[in-house]
Amino acid sequence: MQLMKQMVLQLAGVSLDDSKGYLVETRLGPIAEKAGCANFNELYFKLRYGTDQPLMQLVVDAITTHETIFFRDGAPFEALQFKLLPEVIDARERMGQSRKLRIWSAACSTGQEPYSIGMIVHELLGNLKDWDIQILATDISKATVEQAEKGIYPEHDMARTSRPLLMNKYFEKTPAGHRVVDSVRKLVTFRQMNLLSPLTGFGPFDIVFLRNVLIYFEAATRRDLAQRIGQTLLPHGWLVVGASENLLDAGPQFVPQTHCRTTVYQPGAVPVGRR
Ligand SMILES: C[S@@+](CC[C@H](N)C(=O)[O-])C[C@H]1O[C@@H](n2cnc3c(N)ncnc32)[C@H](O)[C@@H]1O
Repeated sequence: MQLMKQMVLQLAGVSLDDSKGYLVETRLGPIAEKAGCANFNELYFKLRYGTDQPLMQLVVDAITTHETIFFRDGAPFEALQFKLLPEVIDARERMGQSRKLRIWSAACSTGQEPYSIGMIVHELLGNLKDWDIQILATDISKATVEQAEKGIYPEHDMARTSRPLLMNKYFEKTPAGHRVVDSVRKLVTFRQMNLLSPLTGFGPFDIVFLRNVLIYFEAATRRDLAQRIGQTLLPHGWLVVGASENLLDAGPQFVPQTHCRTTVYQPGAVPVGRR
């Protein structure tokens, strides 16, 4: 069990303290059994010294928590619509790059977050013709990214939202379920990606959503990730974290501000040595 916790930490940065031991038991037990392992130590050694990538992916998919909903927590999406996007659009104009936007949903799960961002962008800008907009959506879990790419959701996902009008406007009913309309879908590009890996080639972004993933990491991993993500943000950029998360221990690199009842962060002073 202890070895598997180490493996999960190494693979995804997800820290399972003693209170979370049951997660290994319940989520990885069936995988160990299917892989023909008599116990978790056998599964550990198979992962550690084997080359079974699909098995590794199964473990990552199972141990990560993918709970999400459209417009989760409401307020951050109001801040996006009424403060962040308008300011970012002005800043881009000052840079001589009007009508360009780059947004990253850095732990996108099954896609509700990046599609919510897409709906807000669409709502704010109206006609997207002549705009160059990319919403990059990444997650470590292959299965969730594949599901997100389909952009099709069951009835109960449609009901769990604070913005029912937008849901009505930007989804169409198909035999398979409710499908995100093409004008929003085409704004979003999905990619499987581990936040522990280098962010070389990522950005620069106007806005990064890094929500409800920091809570799974250890303090040092959180600080390191915040610092690396800070380097992908434009000087006028914004970083949005989850309602139960903050960047207070990330140092002066981030300045918190409260807008629409939510705390968001802008790049601040860069620590000496990292300039
Ligand atoms: C609880 S969901 C949050 C989804 C969405 N951001 C939200 O706030 O509703 C956490 C997501 O983080 C992803 N995750 C966990 N560890 C990760 C890592 N090391 N790299 C990238 N994604 C990771 C999980 O796969 C999961 O989909």
